[in-house]
Amino acid sequence: MIIAIDGPSGAGKSTVAKAVAKKLGFSCLDTGAMYRAVAWQAQQNGVPLDDNEALGEVARTYDIEFGHNEGDPVPKRVFIGGVEVTDAIRTTEIDKAVSPVSAAPAVREALVDQQRRIGNAGDYVVEGRDIGTVVFPNAEVKVFLTASDEERAHRRVRQNVDRGVGSLDYEEVLADLRRRDAYDSSRATSPLRPAEDAIHIDSTTHYIEDVIEQICSLAKAARQ
Ligand code: DC
Repeated sequence: MIIAIDGPSGAGKSTVAKAVAKKLGFSCLDTGAMYRAVAWQAQQNGVPLDDNEALGEVARTYDIEFGHNEGDPVPKRVFIGGVEVTDAIRTTEIDKAVSPVSAAPAVREALVDQQRRIGNAGDYVVEGRDIGTVVFPNAEVKVFLTASDEERAHRRVRQNVDRGVGSLDYEEVLADLRRRDAYDSSRATSPLRPAEDAIHIDSTTHYIEDVIEQICSLAKAARQ
């Protein structure tokens, strides 16, 4: 079974996806981390961020892997080409570079292929922007998770404090997520938009525990 969770950055997708996966015994795939890893590798290699072909080559050449801590089905670590980039992909620099990288059709083609291969291997909660529309249009459960801009920016700052990477400046974070939303929603390839059959959930007005419960109930209903 695939549970697709799409939505803008900071809506709570990662928190919700991990908790749902744990409760249901599913694996979990963070597709944003894959775009971030390719952006990191492209920067290491000095690839211009507007060179579709060269970016696609990076996405096709370097293996992206996720590492699990012992006994935990939810991956916590990210590797590209064998190098751990768990923290390196969460910097302000990568926040900026990932938009043009994720808009490159050659990158999307390569990563969507990998995402389908991973997801088809078992029961997965997959989070991203185009999971319910493009990657898994037949997903049994599709959720479009949103929250107000301000709430999302507050959450992102708190997350950056916890992780010890990324900006702690609320205004900067708010401006950056609005910029990324605009970019993600207006790009030609796989723009951020809800699938027609997605359930919309606004996490500003719902406790995160209730959102998690709701998605687990949808999954159980879809199983029957
Ligand atoms: O979820 P995130 O903020 O880590 O995602 C990083 C970037 O990758 C974001 O700018 C949107 C893009 N992305 C995408 O285009 N498609 C996906 N399925 C996942 C993320």
